[in-house]
Amino acid sequence: MLDENELWILSFYRTSEISGALFFGRLAKSMKPGPIQRDMTKHFTDEAVHAWYWTACIEKLGSKPIKLSAAYQDQYLSAAGMPANLMEVLAITQVFERRAIHQYMLHSQIPNIQPETEEALGKIVEDEKWHIQWIRDALRSMEGDYGKDLIDATLKRFHEADQEVYRTMSQEHEERIKHLIKQKTGRMENVRSR
Ligand SMILES: [Fe+2]
Ligand SMILES: [Fe+2]
Repeated sequence: MLDENELWILSFYRTSEISGALFFGRLAKSMKPGPIQRDMTKHFTDEAVHAWYWTACIEKLGSKPIKLSAAYQDQYLSAAGMPANLMEVLAITQVFERRAIHQYMLHSQIPNIQPETEEALGKIVEDEKWHIQWIRDALRSMEGDYGKDLIDATLKRFHEADQEVYRTMSQEHEERIKHLIKQKTGRMENVRSR
């Protein structure tokens, strides 16, 4: 059975993955034929599958996902504004992906995580590596059209919006993870000192 804190964190991942899937799915639907249309479609379905991994993981651990109203992605878009062109779309995507990987890496530092969580985390992180890679390649292929300087400046702008949103929202995630690490480390110390 998950405690309140763990359930919140896993539900937060599930909600974020759903928001990601909806965001990328809408984009994939609106794209012209080509490699970006293809990769964005695969990307969108990966995020949808991730939402299912978390749902199934929570279920296996004997709980039900909490309905969280706001996801990081929703907040982020209102802070950064909707992307104006394909290059901006990819820049935003890269910032999302970096944030997601950062959160999952932080999670993997919790000692003695349940095997169910570890399994979901492992599968997802593998996909996330490809997400980062295809977007990086696609952005590089746009340097001829947009110029490297503009692409770098756009990434910086969205990165700053991310920091802003993070301070107000995803911070709760980080605090809960740290709490969990402390709690579990404390427990481990108790076991050792016995
Ligand atoms: Fe994902
Ligand atoms: Fe992703």
